[in-house]
Amino acid sequence: MPPEPPSLPMWLDLANERLWCSDQALALRPKTFALLRYLVAHPGQLLTKAALLEALWPETMVSEVVLAVRIRELRQVLGDSAQAPRFIETVHRLGFRFIGHLPTVCSAALHTSALAPPLLLAGRERELDVLHGALATALTGVRQLLFVTGEAGLGKTTLVEAFLTALKAYGPLWIGHGQCLDHYGAGEAYLPVLEALGRLCRGPGGKEVVALLEQHAPTWLVQMPGLVQADDLETLQRRSAGATQDRMLCELAEALELLTACQPLLLVLEDLHWSDLSTLDVLAVLARRREPARLLLLGTYRLPDVLQRGHPLHTVHHELQRHGQCTGLPLPVLSETAVTAYLTTRFPGACLPAGLARLVHQRTEGHPLFMVTAVEDWVRRGWLVPADGGWTLRGELAAFASTVPESLRQMLEQQLERLSPMEQRVLEVGSVAGDHLLGRRRGGGPGARGGRGRGLVRRLGTASAVAGGVWRAGLA
Ligand SMILES: Nc1ncnc2c1ncn2[C@@H]1O[C@H](COP(=O)(O)OP(=O)(O)OP(=O)(O)O)[C@@H](O)[C@H]1O
Ligand SMILES: [Mg+2]
Repeated sequence: MPPEPPSLPMWLDLANERLWCSDQALALRPKTFALLRYLVAHPGQLLTKAALLEALWPETMVSEVVLAVRIRELRQVLGDSAQAPRFIETVHRLGFRFIGHLPTVCSAALHTSALAPPLLLAGRERELDVLHGALATALTGVRQLLFVTGEAGLGKTTLVEAFLTALKAYGPLWIGHGQCLDHYGAGEAYLPVLEALGRLCRGPGGKEVVALLEQHAPTWLVQMPGLVQADDLETLQRRSAGATQDRMLCELAEALELLTACQPLLLVLEDLHWSDLSTLDVLAVLARRREPARLLLLGTYRLPDVLQRGHPLHTVHHELQRHGQCTGLPLPVLSETAVTAYLTTRFPGACLPAGLARLVHQRTEGHPLFMVTAVEDWVRRGWLVPADGGWTLRGELAAFASTVPESLRQMLEQQLERLSPMEQRVLEVGSVAGDHLLGRRRGGGPGARGGRGRGLVRRLGTASAVAGGVWRAGLA
């Protein structure tokens, strides 16, 4: 009898080399994981036994039996069968074909704890639609720049990652990913762009990208010396000598346009509130050019941080938006319905009290990071426990309401410490006055309309969530 397929969603955590089923890491030997990874990276393709042996055991002579054993292990774990395959199809005598869908996540920071849930996305249907719409437009050759914005922990990265796991239907894409870093001082020019280019050059089809940069954007390739031979590096250095910033920008824009002629490109630049100024020039140039490019640029940033630091990204964004050259996608907090759906998925088969979702929503104001932190804290405390194939609640709802997870307390306190004494004072007053002063009331209200206090409070960013009622009691 074929093994029972797991009823919960499975996904592949590439950075940590684990296969997850809901919040359970499934046991796989390293080579078996490598085989799965290889199969997933070649969806729908016939992979001959010889190709698989060569890819997985390049240095060793291994018989086909070894491969068959690994395939059997994989099928067992995936709940798959050779007779009625959902993931791995046998191609008679030749080899195998991966026919399933297994989302992959490659962020090293994700899901290192067995208690933490995998990428469970609450809400965000509209935002995913916007992202898919932008990609569909980009595929027609009309370049797109989209800024996903919101305070810390509102789910910018999570949304982008959820989007990345749903791109299979678009066929092959170049995907480049660059991260801005929090630093003191000016920060290295073009850091996230170079990181994204480096990843493209090292990823599948990377040789093509290197060749293209060598020909059309030597001023960029020369900054990634690890990607070229020593002899070629000297030539590149000669060709790039005396290059101005304008020339660099022009080279990059042309190279990316050529790159997207053979395959669309999705470039993700994360945490632009920390970006160096040169990276902003790249964004502006790429967004403004009119040449066709199957390019989707996704930037994420914390709006409150940008406002608070007076970062020029704010101006760049608005200038581009005024000319229809970019789209803003501000993330709202989660609705109570989304929180309810989250709890249902996080605790399958649970018999949770009706008021729990409302309580979570109220206490966290639908802030995703607070929601996930609170819920996982309850699991850790043993208030929500697996039982009889589902989950059950131990303890009173009132106790849930009065506890602030330690990690969250520390995070909020750190954010509060960063504020000036004046801002802390305004926040303190705001926490007493609540939503009125902070203008967080739905549809506005007297407090939402203005005054000096409100202008200041708006700049406080994430910390305003504290005063807006989130665990006010616990932090006091
Ligand atoms: N829509 C969502 N559904 C469920 N969980 C979410 C959602 N959005 C975010 N989370 C959870 O909240 C946490 C913070 O989310 P995320 O890292 O995406 O925020 P962010 O906006 O990128 O924050 P930062 O500005 O610090 O980078 C993550 O642990 C994630 O699991
Ligand atoms: Mg993020």
